[in-house]
Amino acid sequence: MSDSSTHSASPRAARLGLAVVGVGGAVATTAAAGLELMRLGISGHEGLPLAELGAEHELRPYEDIVIGGWDVCGDDLAVAVDAHGVLGSAELAAAAPGLAALKPWPAIDDQDFHPGVGGTHRRHVGSKRAAVEAIRADLRAFREQAGLDALVMVNLASTERVIDVDSPVLASAASFERGIGSENPEIGPALLYAYAALMEGVPYANFTPSVAAEVPALVEVARREGVPTAGKDGKTGQTMLKTVIAPALRARALRVEGWYSANILGNRDGQALHDPASLASKLATKGSVLDSILGYEVADHLVRIDYYAPRGDAKEAWDSIDLVGFLGQRMQLKVNFLCRDSVLAAPLVLELARLLDFAQRRGESGPLPALGLFFKAPMTGNGPPEHALHRQVEQLASWLGTASGAADAIPAGSAADPIPAGSAADAIPAGGPADAIPAGERRWASRAA
Ligand SMILES: NC(=O)c1ccc[n+]([C@@H]2O[C@H](COP(=O)([O-])OP(=O)(O)OC[C@H]3O[C@@H](n4cnc5c(N)ncnc54)[C@H](O)[C@@H]3O)[C@@H](O)[C@H]2O)c1
Repeated sequence: MSDSSTHSASPRAARLGLAVVGVGGAVATTAAAGLELMRLGISGHEGLPLAELGAEHELRPYEDIVIGGWDVCGDDLAVAVDAHGVLGSAELAAAAPGLAALKPWPAIDDQDFHPGVGGTHRRHVGSKRAAVEAIRADLRAFREQAGLDALVMVNLASTERVIDVDSPVLASAASFERGIGSENPEIGPALLYAYAALMEGVPYANFTPSVAAEVPALVEVARREGVPTAGKDGKTGQTMLKTVIAPALRARALRVEGWYSANILGNRDGQALHDPASLASKLATKGSVLDSILGYEVADHLVRIDYYAPRGDAKEAWDSIDLVGFLGQRMQLKVNFLCRDSVLAAPLVLELARLLDFAQRRGESGPLPALGLFFKAPMTGNGPPEHALHRQVEQLASWLGTASGAADAIPAGSAADPIPAGSAADAIPAGGPADAIPAGERRWASRAA
């Protein structure tokens, strides 16, 4: 870790370190800028889904999060955030002094895993075992230099190419650890970062579609080392809406004949997805949600993602859905989401950091199904994941409420609760039993949805 790296705020008693893989990327720098603007009192808590659950409910305040991390591009975060073009000029000017103090640590990288990504800010370590040791050393240095009270890792790096998840080297902790020693080619950077985090006792979330903590080997390591994990691939825009609309269509017996999803985006993530092998990783997670919610296979579920430079981070998503209803009559539903990719993603990353930290303080380990709300392909550790968003909200509320009594302490607020207790929504067979939750938690559920 370089001397000038890590934190921008003055040392405080209770600080939560967020070590980010890909800290110079659009999502990471948006999150870092958001923290800086919140600390300065320039931004509030808009768009942060758990903002109403304060420190008294055991989630740390956002302002106590300190960002550090690795990137193959060595620019400081003020330069990086400017390049991504997500922030307005006033926010940029205010956040720049704090962000300029944040310099990425040299990355552990392997070009073979994402050929479309440039950058020379790499650590030349010589072996996979040395790479793991270097990552662990960076985590320890971050903890010490930033005076951290707790530490979590989130992967926000460029999407890696698909690998053979059924490879024997990923089947058990022992074979994985042998594979590191023998330089097994299936073990890429995302797996090395995840393994290093677990071995260092650092909770880990994978916001990318790359293969990492969900493989049996790392699920075993997470449980063995007593470390909570979550992933994978952030559910932010089109897929988030898909998991809202599909349960409604099922509830009304509107049969989905076909669902055509198209996306254009012009940020660096879009550029990385230009590589067919990286795109295959993304399409795998995006395509997985529909059939399990509907309860049947939609043969014509097509997903397209195209890099289109003029849009930058302002991604546009279209969904064209073909439906069959009563008397075999055909209908169409069109959805057009003109969103901001990183603005949707960054707050989820901050919430994940707080939730992973909370889970660790609670003594949880292995995959956390209750955090499935945040992901396209939720990790469960065993059994199929829940995809329907309203049920994922319930699961998270239940987990938080059981843990801390937090949900009952949330002020009654939302006048229109779309999920009233005992409603028809509870009867939607959405692919898995939902936890029963008290009414107090449903109030939060309705707002977060
Ligand atoms: N809404 C969203 O933005 C969204 C939603 C779901 C998932 N994701 C995923 O989150 C990730 C980040 O998205 P983004 O828009 O910030 O992408 P980005 O391309 O702007 O950022 C990725 C960063 O990772 C860095 N990087 C690449 N390899 C690295 C390595 N081995 N070690 C350290 N750093 C490395 C790159 O230099 C880059 O700065 C992507 O994988 C994307 O698919 C994003």
